[in-house]
Amino acid sequence: MLRSLLGSEMCIRDRLTILQSLAKNVDQLIVGGGIANTFMLAAGLNIGKSLAEPGLVDDAKAVIDAMKARGQALGDASVAVPIPTDVVTAKTFAADAVATIKAATDVADDDLILDIGPATARRLVQARRRWLSDETMADLGEYLGLTVAELDSIATFGNMIFRKPVGRHVVLVCDSFVCWSLGYAELRAAVEAQLGIRMGQTTPDRRFTLLPIVCLGACDRGPAMMVDADLYGPVDPDGVAEILRGYA
Ligand code: FES
Repeated sequence: MLRSLLGSEMCIRDRLTILQSLAKNVDQLIVGGGIANTFMLAAGLNIGKSLAEPGLVDDAKAVIDAMKARGQALGDASVAVPIPTDVVTAKTFAADAVATIKAATDVADDDLILDIGPATARRLVQARRRWLSDETMADLGEYLGLTVAELDSIATFGNMIFRKPVGRHVVLVCDSFVCWSLGYAELRAAVEAQLGIRMGQTTPDRRFTLLPIVCLGACDRGPAMMVDADLYGPVDPDGVAEILRGYA
């Protein structure tokens, strides 16, 4: 897997030019610093009064689209530019300014984005390491000024953060009420039989990890499941083998 991180003294236009060519060859582009604000703008998010390059939004969109196209060509939805889902903001850029962690969708017009939020940080670290060990969480907590317990308690995307090693592909079967009433038990049994493992386990070849998950937000498509970032539903238990065949 190829990944690229760019965050330096280069001007944003130079970095975007490099990112556009990298987008054709790498599997993940993690953008940080001021350039991330331009990508948030390109993703349609409000960045308040944070620094960005509105004139380069189309270039950032081109990078996002190129990565998406590469992901589609590879059949891997995780190949993408990860846009922050939470951020640290303040009203002024001052030592005594009060920092607030909020969802990326809640940034107000008078907010300054200072950094990505802890949920995004965990997601990015996991994207590089596949799972988060206690040591990684401690390092992350030190960087973010949070305790490991606080990081663990952050609910956003909590179900997608893995604290133990997982296989190459993660199969998540929704066990919330609607899916449960629409055939969760049969779907779970079919997935377990197909993989030869029980819920919470990883196949011996480390190809799949099977986990339960709360509502995937696709209740009208229950029973629902996800493989990596791909959502399936309603899933006929007889179609499970066909779905899993697509993940080498
Ligand atoms: S209950 Fe399963 S997607 Fe909502």
